This record gives sequence, C-alpha cells and structure tokens, in this order.
Amino acid sequence: MKKKKIQIFDTTLRDGEQVPGCKLNTKEKVKIAKQLESLGVDVIEAGFPTSSPGDYQSVQNICKSVLQTVVCALSRAVEKDIEIAGEALKYANRPRIHTGIGTSSYHIRYKFNSTPEKIIEKAICAVKYAKKFVEDVEFYAEDAGRTENEFLAKVCENVIKHGATVINVPDTTGYCLPKEYGEKIRFLKENVKGIHKVTLSTHCHNDLGLATANSLYGIMNGAKQVECTINGIGERAGNTSLEEIVMIIKQNSHLNLFTNINTKLIFSTSHLVSKCTGMKVQSNKAIVGLNAFSHSSGIHQDGIIKKRETYESINPEDVGINQSSIILTARSGRAALAYRYERLGHSLSKKFLDLVYSIFLKYADKKKEITDKELKTILKKANNNKKILHSNTSSRRINVV
Ligand code: KIV
Ligand code: ZN
Repeated sequence: MKKKKIQIFDTTLRDGEQVPGCKLNTKEKVKIAKQLESLGVDVIEAGFPTSSPGDYQSVQNICKSVLQTVVCALSRAVEKDIEIAGEALKYANRPRIHTGIGTSSYHIRYKFNSTPEKIIEKAICAVKYAKKFVEDVEFYAEDAGRTENEFLAKVCENVIKHGATVINVPDTTGYCLPKEYGEKIRFLKENVKGIHKVTLSTHCHNDLGLATANSLYGIMNGAKQVECTINGIGERAGNTSLEEIVMIIKQNSHLNLFTNINTKLIFSTSHLVSKCTGMKVQSNKAIVGLNAFSHSSGIHQDGIIKKRETYESINPEDVGINQSSIILTARSGRAALAYRYERLGHSLSKKFLDLVYSIFLKYADKKKEITDKELKTILKKANNNKKILHSNTSSRRINVV
C-alpha cells in the first residue's frame, strides 16, 4: 500500500514564541526559519503580523529568506488583521493566511458575546477577505476541542464553500482525550460536504500531556497536516512537539505514513531553538532531552554495550546524535567503566579493572557523575596502588628468601 504523506506545519515562530520569556528578534527568527526549511517542514508559521511591527518585519524577512516552504501568517477574523497579514506575506513564494475564530460556546458567549449564526457569518467573511490576498487560506476553529461536532461541521462546510484550503481543528485548551479527538476528525471527514477538497489539520496543546497522542489519533483518523513546534514549546504546557510526532511516524512503518523531515537535523534544530529562545529543554524530554539516549544504571549499560537495541528503540543517529552516552555513576558496573576507558584509549585487564573499579566506587559515591578527567585521576591512583602492591609482594618474597 502506498504511504500517505503527513504535512508538517511548524508554528515554533508563532505559537511557540507566545511563551512568557521567549522573545526572538528578527535575525534569530530568520535563522530558525532557514533551519526549518532545511529540516524539511512543509509550512512555517512565521508570526502574527498585526501583533507588533517587529513581528510584521520578521514575517516579511522570513518570506524573503525562505525559498520553497509555504510561509503562513496568523490573523483573527478581522479585516485589518487579514490585510496586514496579506501585506507581510507579499514577498513569499508560497504565502498562506491562517485566519479563524472561536467556535466553542465559551468563546461565542463569553469572548464574543455573540451567537452561533453570527460566528459563521464572521468566519465566511474572514475567508472571503483573505482570498483577496492569497489563494491558500487556512481556517482555524479556535477551541474546536470543546466545540460540538455538529456545529463545528457546519462552520467547516461554510468556510470550505467560500474557499478555505485547509481546515485546522485546534484543541486550544488541551481538553480532548486521544480517542475523542480522533473521533472529531473522523466526524468532520464523514459529515462535511467538500472536506475531500481540503487538508484537515491537527493543532493540539499539551495541558494534560496529550498533545502528541491527540495529534497521532488525528492523523490516524484522516488529518493530513500536524501543527507542532520544536521542543514542544508553546502557550502554557506547550504544543505538540515536532520531533515526537515525526519520530512516531518514522518508527511505526505499519501506520503507512511518512513526512518530509530530514530527521538527522532534529537535534541541531532543537539546540538552535533552545539557544535562541533561552528555553532549556528538560533533560528527560523525549528525543531531544539530554538523557534521551543516556544510560546510567549498570544493567542497562551492560545491555547497551552488548547491543544498543536492548535498551533503545530509536537509533540516536537517526535524530542527529552521534551515539548513546554511558554515564558513570555509583550505579554503573565494570562493563560501563571498561567501555569508557576503552574510549579514552585504555584497555584494562580483568584483574586491573577490579582495582580501578574499587577506587571508582569510592569517587562515585560522593559524586553525581564521573567525568573523563576524574577517570584519568582514578587510573593514576590505581597504577600507583598497583606499584605499591607489586613492590610489597616483591620485598616479601625477598624476605622469605
Ligand atoms: O491554539 C489555538 O487555537 C491556536 C489558533 C490561533 C490556531 O493557536
Ligand atoms: Zn495554539
């Protein structure tokens, strides 16, 4: 069966940047956008041009720097926003306006003090107006996660009729369970007239730690685009993490899906985004965290040294990490210690390793991790002890004689 392509829509520079303390200047944004293009994302959401002159400038500069990737700009369902987004995108080879409105009862009643009928009207007007600037118009139904499926379907049908090319179904508050979100996508696929003409997109937030699972259920039920960010950064608990969804697709060939991502650039892209945004990646973050391919317990280290696959289902080289790390702690065994010495150019005999290991344990009990420098000190100590032991036995032998 032919594999289906899943488009990767990266919103690191828009939703990702909406994090407190994460401010990127235009130069940094352009640098990240270029890296995203090399990574192979299909769409770069470059910003929300109406939000500030700086953001407008960044979107415009990104359009000039990115060659093949679609560049997308966000707007509300407001004419002025759409106009500014259209202007900011004027240098893009492949521009897309991303416009939309809240569709849940919370948004309709409390945010807009409006009615469902008026919301549909506004949605149609926004799409029609955006079409004056660009051909490619993505519509988002904000808080779709908490929107009744029947009403959501009605909104989608109307905006498709007026030219929307992509329908985004955001779980804005990270409310849905995976099965529920998958069913929502399936419901739209099966009940919206014209849905086959457009791309259905997932956009999941991580408030319950389910963003990646929800996106996965979305694509398993017919969505063809996933909106995500590098390192999963984004509002509150963040968005679906690009590296997670891409590697899930890559690792599970039975899903019959593929992306255009050059996974070997994942780690360097993660590093660049973390450096520019100042947002540290948590050590246990899947795929790109410092510990994602590090092993510190003796049993695991022994297994990894014998065969990497014993304790790793992902090859670190696939995401651009040279090799797994063997971290030396008081839980490490002789195999790990010998392995690390091998890498420093020292091959230890079994007997000498016992001596080195006893000294190592004394150090390791006092420290979190033993470094290469300390390994050299331990080796020196062991060699000195060996000499002393040797001379003691030799002199004992002389005495006996
Ligand atoms: O989470 C959300 O609903 C959004 C939309 C603006 C697309 O980010
Ligand atoms: Zn969002």
